[in-house]
Order: sequence, then structure tokens, then C-alpha cells
Amino acid sequence: MRLTKNHFYITAWALIFNFSCSQPSNTNVTSTADSLKIAAVVVPDSAAFKLTVDGKQVGLFVLKNKNNTSVAITNYGGRLVSLLVPDNKGKLTDVILGYDSLKSYQKPKEPYFGAIIGRYGNRIAKGKFSIDGKAYQLDVNDGVNTLHGGFKGFYSRVFTPKQISANELQLTYTSADGEGGYPGHLSVKVTYTLTDDNALKIAYEATTDKPTIVNLTNHAYFNLNGAGSKTITDNLLQINADRFTPVDTTLIPTGKLQNVKSTPFDFITSKAIGTDIGKADEQLKNGKGYDHNFVLNKADIKTIAATVKSTVTGIVMDVYTQEPGLQFYSGNFLTGESHDGKHGAAYGYRSALCLETQHFPDSPNEPSFPSTLLKPNQTYKTTTIYKFSAK
Ligand code: GLA
Repeated sequence: MRLTKNHFYITAWALIFNFSCSQPSNTNVTSTADSLKIAAVVVPDSAAFKLTVDGKQVGLFVLKNKNNTSVAITNYGGRLVSLLVPDNKGKLTDVILGYDSLKSYQKPKEPYFGAIIGRYGNRIAKGKFSIDGKAYQLDVNDGVNTLHGGFKGFYSRVFTPKQISANELQLTYTSADGEGGYPGHLSVKVTYTLTDDNALKIAYEATTDKPTIVNLTNHAYFNLNGAGSKTITDNLLQINADRFTPVDTTLIPTGKLQNVKSTPFDFITSKAIGTDIGKADEQLKNGKGYDHNFVLNKADIKTIAATVKSTVTGIVMDVYTQEPGLQFYSGNFLTGESHDGKHGAAYGYRSALCLETQHFPDSPNEPSFPSTLLKPNQTYKTTTIYKFSAK
């Protein structure tokens, strides 16, 4: 195997990371971080991610491919920190929102930037569900409901990192029986792979020792005009979904599947996100914009589930998934009040969008929705791909 410069940086960092777990004051880390910064232009400084959290070592890992596309990931919450892809002039553009240091990821009410979400992505009504007649109560952290796992979901857990190669990182975490109210020890493995065709592949796996519920996703906030750009309402979106799951005022699905035809939710043909977002519509009112689960026409890793395009950079993102649903969230809760985004950016209202591949919200309480039950001796396995190109 040819040892490239990038490979050297990754390998050097991996070695130093391992070494620094037992030698926290190792000064070499700073020089490695500087090398990475030079190598990848705007990859955040890894020294700002080097911290012990819950007694575990946190760090920043950078995956790179032969096109200079790179993704920086921290094992704190398994978060995607930066994703640099070439625009239509070949200029690298960071397309996801995030912070320059771990400290900002730890602040209260942080909006899950780039995080792995578990045990259950999106909402569970009143935090209640039952398995085999036994009732469980989860943390209630979003009004009357549970959102994204609860008060200390996977977004704030430290995963054990294992750099498999220059373009692959494996993260594991074992969630204790009863953590956040969920039954069973849940062993989770998430593998991030950056391929040479500029696709970021996220493979999720989980096993349990008691019947439980699982719904894992990633909460990356994208702006294909470049992270820190003002809005995503000019991004073009197409979603391969004829139906969506309408919600009540607390964003819990009503249980119905509604046809998108003649509604603002029709993204069958590509349109600017802002086209209908301001329309008088009960569902848009409930979501304060788009914050809805789309029922994908095909849960198939070879079929495009959704495509986003920037008319500014020409960057195109195709989403592929094995999941039956896709939460399209138009960044309605972003306020831009603090300037602690990367390079001092204030991430304002609708300055990013999320396309969270998932099982439907509140499935444990909706028998008509695809099941999220996981039993011992079964393996939860699902893959999502975000693939980038430029036109
Ligand atoms: C998801 C939810 C939204 C919101 C964001 C995070 O997309 O559906 O309602 O909570 O996460 O702010």
C-alpha cells in the first residue's frame, strides 16, 4: 500500500490519540493538529476537541479521500464536525454546521449538530411505551414528549473510537439497561466511511439483551451554499415520497399517512425549499415550517431518497437509505443568537436543513407504523449514504 501524506497524518493522529489517553499532557498533539489544519484547510483544530468527558478520552478524527474531500468526526456524540466537499469550481466548501471546540457541543440546549441520535430518533409521545404489556417511562425533554433519546441521549455520550483506515472510523457504545428509561443493554456500532466517489456512508448496528426499541439516525445540519450562509430556503429539494406523517401541535404523528399532492409537502419534483414554506397550512404551522417525517416510496440503499442542490455552489447531495422514513427539518428552531459556530458564525433561522433517515416518530405507540422493536438474538442493521457531487 502506498503511504500517502494524508494517510501519514491520520495514522500519526491515531497513534498520538491512543498514546495521549495514558499521557494527557502530550504536547505533540498540537503539532499534529496544525498539520491537519494545513492538510485540510478548514478542518477544526483537533486540540480543541481533546478533553476527558465522563472519564473517557475525546478527540477529533479526520477521514479523507483521494479527491481531498474530508470529514472530521468527534467521538463525543459521534458528531460530524466538518464535511469539506468540492463545489462546481473545485473549491472545498464545508457543508455542515458545527463548532470549533468540544466545549460548544457540551452547552445546554445545543441543537444536536452532527450527532448520532439514539436510542430513539425523534419523538415518543409523553415518553411512554410498552413492550409485552410492561410500561416504560422515558425522560421527557421536549415539552410533554421525549425527543432524540432524552436528556443524555447518544448525542452527548462518548463513543469508543477505532480508526479502521484513512477513510473509515468505527464508533462503539454500550448503553446500560435502564439508561434514559430504555430497557436492555444496547450495544451500538456506528461506522463512518468516506468513499472515493465522495459519499459518506453511515452504517448502524445494535444488539440488545432484553426486548427494546431502537431508531438510530444522524442529525447533521446541511447548508450546501456553505455552513454559515444565511438560508437554505433557496436550496432545491426533491424527496421521493408520495406521503408524509402529519403531526399534532406537539409534533407527534396523528397516525395517518397523508398524500403530499396539492400540499406544500409535495417535493416529488425538485423545488426551492422556500417555495411553499410561508403558505397558510395547518401542518406547516404545527412544525413552524417543515419538521415532518416523509414516507419514502422505497427503503432501498440503491434508490435516491432525496436530493438537495445549491444554486450558489452547484453542490448536490443525494441521500440513500434503508430506512422507511426521512425527517425533513428546515432549521426552524435555529436562532443565530450566539456566534459560536465555526469561525464565529451565527447560525440563524433556517440557515440549515436536516434530512434524518429513520423509522417514523412515535412508532412504539402506532401499531400501523413499521416496528422499531429489537429482540435479543436479533441485530439492528441499517445504512444511510450522503453522496456529494457538483454541477
Ligand atoms: C428534529 C426535530 C425538530 C427539532 C430538531 C432539533 O429534527 O424533529 O423538531 O427538535 O430535531 O432542534
